Amino acid sequence: MKIKSLGYITIESTDITEWEAYAKNVVGLMKNEDMSDENNLFLRMDESPFRFQVFKGSENKYSRGGFEVASKEDFEDAKKQLQDLNISFQEEGEDLAKVRCVSELISFNDPAGNSLELFYGRDIEKNEFKSSQDISGFVTHGLGLGHLVFGTLEAEAAHDFYTQVMEFGDSDIMRMRFTPDPNDPESVIYFMHCDNPRHHTVGIMLAPTPPSGLIHAMVEVETAEQVVDAMDRATSNNIHISSTLGRHMNDKMFSFYMQTPAGFMLEFGYDGIQPDWDVHETTNSEAPSYWGHEFNMPEA
Ligand SMILES: [Fe+2]
Repeated sequence: MKIKSLGYITIESTDITEWEAYAKNVVGLMKNEDMSDENNLFLRMDESPFRFQVFKGSENKYSRGGFEVASKEDFEDAKKQLQDLNISFQEEGEDLAKVRCVSELISFNDPAGNSLELFYGRDIEKNEFKSSQDISGFVTHGLGLGHLVFGTLEAEAAHDFYTQVMEFGDSDIMRMRFTPDPNDPESVIYFMHCDNPRHHTVGIMLAPTPPSGLIHAMVEVETAEQVVDAMDRATSNNIHISSTLGRHMNDKMFSFYMQTPAGFMLEFGYDGIQPDWDVHETTNSEAPSYWGHEFNMPEA
């Protein structure tokens, strides 16, 4: 199946007003006033009706990631492929398609238990995007929302699923020890791309799945100053900074990480590379960053 991009993610929250304040005052997203109500917060980054849907529930966690295929034909081919491989999926009805602003969608799980959706035909919002902060624009055009990194002890099975079933390509495979103890086992992170130039749209890390269901999501802006401004907004709004500024080795992203109200981190970056997949060869980076990215996780 030919996945074009990550279209949106959905997040369960016990307190959507906290999310609204975080999205507006820190991240710089735009609330879609027409779509949002007391149980649902729809947040825009660009011309899409929303990129984040936060819905009221009993937990704080990642819910689903929505991946886009280009056409009805590609959608039907993808369903046939899942059927042929005996991978069960749910045909989602018109009601959910309307909520997600798509023509049709299905849902299924990856082998790590992460819920995914597959859709085609996303609406375009007619009202112009305007960030709630001084952000000239998020880097999404032709690249999708950003990226998601999941943690799972089923990393091999999940990697096989994304590369063989969803037909992502391996951008970089990073093998490293995350603790200074040489007796600790080595971990691996598979960074994978879909059919657009973003270096990776999904990462799979060999690690226990966090309670929030996701290690981090990433959004990208157009200048370094806008990254630093976001870090200042996080600090002044008492949002925990999970990692200092740094430059990643594989996608060259200049970024910092902060906590979200869902418990997973949001990487806020600039300057990610956009490889030409026809000539790219999978790299094997041995460290996450050239400099910076000192992680300091909040107390559990
Ligand atoms: Fe990242």
